[in-house]
Amino acid sequence: MTLQDEIRRRRTFAIISHPDAGKTTLTEKLLLFGGAIHVAGAVKSNKIRRTATSDWMEIEKQRGISVATSAMAFDYEGYKINILDTPGHQDFAEDTYRTLTAVDSVIIVIDAAKGVETQTRKLMEVCRMRKTPVIVFVNKLDREGKAPFDLLDEIESELQITVRPLSWPIEMGDRFKGVYNLYERKLDLYRPDKQVVTESVAFSDLTDPDLERRIGESSAAQLREDIELIEGVYPPLDVQTYLSGDVAPVFFGSALNNFGVRELLNCFVRIAPPPQPVQTVERLVQPEEPTFTGFVFKIHANMDPNHRSCIAFVKVCSGRFERNANYRHVRLDKMMRFSSPTAFMAQKKEVVDEAFAGDIVGLPDTGNFKIGDSLTEGELLHFKGLPRFSPELFKYIENADPMRAKQLNKGIDQLMDEGVAQLFTNRFNGRKIIGAVGQLQFEVIQYRLLHEYGAQCRWDPLPLYKACWIESDDKAALDSFMRRKAQYMASDHEGRDVYLADSAYVLTMAQQDFPDVRFHFTSEF
Ligand code: G4P
Repeated sequence: MTLQDEIRRRRTFAIISHPDAGKTTLTEKLLLFGGAIHVAGAVKSNKIRRTATSDWMEIEKQRGISVATSAMAFDYEGYKINILDTPGHQDFAEDTYRTLTAVDSVIIVIDAAKGVETQTRKLMEVCRMRKTPVIVFVNKLDREGKAPFDLLDEIESELQITVRPLSWPIEMGDRFKGVYNLYERKLDLYRPDKQVVTESVAFSDLTDPDLERRIGESSAAQLREDIELIEGVYPPLDVQTYLSGDVAPVFFGSALNNFGVRELLNCFVRIAPPPQPVQTVERLVQPEEPTFTGFVFKIHANMDPNHRSCIAFVKVCSGRFERNANYRHVRLDKMMRFSSPTAFMAQKKEVVDEAFAGDIVGLPDTGNFKIGDSLTEGELLHFKGLPRFSPELFKYIENADPMRAKQLNKGIDQLMDEGVAQLFTNRFNGRKIIGAVGQLQFEVIQYRLLHEYGAQCRWDPLPLYKACWIESDDKAALDSFMRRKAQYMASDHEGRDVYLADSAYVLTMAQQDFPDVRFHFTSEF
């Protein structure tokens, strides 16, 4: 197979959802189709069930599983599919944001009874920002849920994306009879006792009286009415509008019963994008370029304090990655060889000899890599598109053991490079501030500082609203703003100017008073 063929058959995506919507279940069914696993239950949920006391070790035991499922690959009908796993717990949402920078498309799972939930809404914002194509899977049709048309409206308004149903449920809950697949024009019938698509019949003409025979009179009438409405209201799917992130195809089914999953997968491999070009500071990198390039989007630490090793996950952006070849670590400007790059097939981790654009390789590392680092065959390239998002919680981090100040600083630095949370340094008083998305991140930091660096920290409260990266074309305006807000000015880990707004009101006032200053909630603009 040529390099081009290898790359074009790759589909790299992530499944995102609010916890409990069915992401793990769906992942598992997809892997079953791909033959990557053979029994249900092989993929463990990386969901963290919060214990009553916050027992970090317990959390970590549960989280530890997620390394095996960080990137799962399988072949399906000639396609090579890479599923990137995202943390189940919302406190680690930052990990998910970064994972989204390494995928070409996304499948969103929504619980039919709960509709669009907070976590889904936030993750969709990231997809929208990056114009990532999304397909929606409405799950748990075997239970009572919201009316399908209401769900579509909710998805449109809450996720701010136009939808196009490609399958349609026939009843739900106890009366669930199956779905009509608009994409393939067939009727997939569901039998709860069999827990599979028991029958799948081509059905291009819904006026055919055979419909009554199969699903009963009232369901048939309802289905005809629904489909007529859909065809009237929603224009046919234009794949281009899906690829540009403007329209989301919607499927209905039940992951647990493996119902509607194959249909989703069949459509996915046909319409989802192959590896896409990636922007660097220097130029646009095309996946089919012959030379290898890639960047680190995730670092997973080994929790064993005795060896501080970790796995750096590299997204191959172009060409072919080879084991034992010499690559340039651009930031350190040094050549490196990797003798045991790994890939993951369900829970099995194996050493790979090569990987192609679109693939993920795990590189065992002992502290050479930071999030965002590039690897190339020699070219100087810096990948863009790994923005930091404004954290939602902020705390001052203080040294609780004066004898171990050096260890504390080193630990903080390394944990920030790994992307555990974000560090800001207040320029006025020099105090260090940790910004996080969830409370658990603070617990992770405290635990790891103690166990890996022998350093103790203490948290001081800091009620802030948002961190805003600021810029202006008018240097005088920027200087004047920074003077006025001197007490609230900080530097992020890369030294950029960050304004720490303590309330929404103060931020709005600042925006009004300084119209020449631009305020951004992400570090890349
Ligand atoms: P997550 O990764 O998105 O957090 O969700 P996960 O797949 O773990 O699913 C959450 C719960 O929803 C699980 O039940 C799972 O069995 C159930 N579920 C998933 N898909 C369906 C579906 O199509 N229909 C129904 N009725 N349930 C579904 P649990 O009891 O929390 O976990 P478990 O003990 O069964 O593993």
